[in-house]
Amino acid sequence: MATSSLLDYGGNVTKGLGRITEGIMTSGKGSYVEYDDGRKMLDFTCGIGVTNMGHCHPKISKAAADQCMNIVHAQCSIAFHEPYLRLVKKLLPLMPDPSLDSFFFWNSGSEAVEASLKMARTATGRQNIITMQGAYHGRTFGAMAVTRSKTVYSAGVAPLMPGVFTIPYPFWHQLGGKPDMTEDAQVAQCLYQLELLLAQQTAPADTAAIIIEPVLGEGGYVPAPAAFLQGLRAICDKHGILLIIDEVQSGFSRTGKFFAIEYSGVRPDILIMAKGLANGFPLSGVVSRKELTDKLATGSMGGTYAGNAVSCAAACAVVDAMQEENVLANVNARSEELFSVLKALKAAHPAHILDVRGQGLMVAVEFATPAGPGATLDAVAAPEGQGLGKTLASRVAKKCIEKGMIILTTSVYEVVRFIPPLNITAEDLAKGAQIFRDAVEEVVKEG
Ligand SMILES: Cc1ncc(COP(=O)(O)O)c(C=O)c1O
Repeated sequence: MATSSLLDYGGNVTKGLGRITEGIMTSGKGSYVEYDDGRKMLDFTCGIGVTNMGHCHPKISKAAADQCMNIVHAQCSIAFHEPYLRLVKKLLPLMPDPSLDSFFFWNSGSEAVEASLKMARTATGRQNIITMQGAYHGRTFGAMAVTRSKTVYSAGVAPLMPGVFTIPYPFWHQLGGKPDMTEDAQVAQCLYQLELLLAQQTAPADTAAIIIEPVLGEGGYVPAPAAFLQGLRAICDKHGILLIIDEVQSGFSRTGKFFAIEYSGVRPDILIMAKGLANGFPLSGVVSRKELTDKLATGSMGGTYAGNAVSCAAACAVVDAMQEENVLANVNARSEELFSVLKALKAAHPAHILDVRGQGLMVAVEFATPAGPGATLDAVAAPEGQGLGKTLASRVAKKCIEKGMIILTTSVYEVVRFIPPLNITAEDLAKGAQIFRDAVEEVVKEG
C-alpha cells in the first residue's frame, strides 16, 4: 500500500509533538525498523527504551494476539483478568526486595508516577515531595511538577503541583565539577544538600517522599552511585520518608540487572515500572508493600484502561522471553563491547568527547561544546574559538540517522544516548558502533 500520500495529513498533527526522523515507519523486526520509502534503519532507540526485546518479538506479539481473541478489555474495577494475576505471579520473585508485594498497573509511566505520588501522600499524611535536579518523570501535571530535566515540558503552564523541592543529582555538571570529580565528593555534596533542604525548606514531618531515577535518563544518562542511594535510604528511614524509585526507563534488564536499584541493594518503598515491561504495549506498574497500599481507600486508584489484558499478556511473555533467552548475559556482554568502542573513541578525541558513562545498555557519550547552560561557570565548557563546533551531539545523531541508524540525544548538555535492543546480536551492535564512530569522525573533521 502506498502510504506516502498520507504524509499530507502530518500537517494535521499537533506541533506539540516533535519527531527526529522523516517519513512513515511501517514495520519493525528485531533491531530494525522500516520506512515506507524503503529505508531500513538500525534502531538504537527502542522507541525510547521500550522495545527492549526487539520489534515484534514473535513470542510477545503472539501472546498479545492470542489475548486479543480471548478478551481485550476486562476492566480492572469490574473484575480481575487472568493475565493481570499471572503477571503479578511472574513479577513477585523478580522484585528487588521481597517487601514489594502489592501491585497495581496503569498505562503510561507518567500515570504510574502520579499514582505513586498520590499514594505517598495518602500513606504518610504528608504533602511535600523531594525530586532531583535533571529528573524526568513525565508530562502530566504531577509528573511534570517533579520533572527537572528541561523547562520545555512545563514552560508556560504553571501553576504546577505545589510542595515539590529539589536537590542536585550526583552528576558532576550539577556540582560545578568535571567528569573526573570523585563519586565520594559528589555523594557527600548531594547528601549534604538534602540534609540542608530538610533543615531549611521542607521539614521531615511535612515530607512524604523522595523520588529518584536510579539512572538519570532525560537528565543525561547518569547512574547514581550506590552510596548515594544508600544515603537516601538511611535519611528516609530516619525520618519516615518514603523512597520512590522510578525504573520506567532503567528497569527490565536495561542496565544489566533486572532493576537498576539492585546495584545498590537499596529497598524501594515504592517502585515504578513501564516502557520495557510490555515491549511496546501500553502498560505501567506501581509496586509497594501491602502495609502501605492497604492505606489506600478502595476506589481511590484505577483507570478505564489500567492494566489492560492484552498489555498484561504481552508483559508475561516479556518476562518469559527475557528468562528463556538469558537476556541479562547478552546485555552485559554487548555492554562491554560498546564501552570498549566508545572509550577508544574518547581516547582518540579527548577534546571533543568529555565522558562515556552508563550501565548495561543504557549508555551515553557526552561531547564538549561551547555555550552549554551555565557555560560561563561550567568547569568543562570549552571557550569559543578552540576549534570545537556547536551542538556536536545533535549533529552526530543526525549523521547516524543519515547513515541508517536511529539514535537519540538527551539532556540540556551535549549527550547522545544508546538504547539498543537488549537481545541485539554482537554483529548489529558492532555495526551501530561503527556508524557512530564514522559520524563522530565526520563531525570532528567538519569542526
Ligand atoms: C524515568 C521516567 N519516568 C517516567 C517517564 C514517563 O513515562 P511515559 O512517557 O510513559 O508517561 C519516563 C519517560 O520517558 C521516564 O524515562
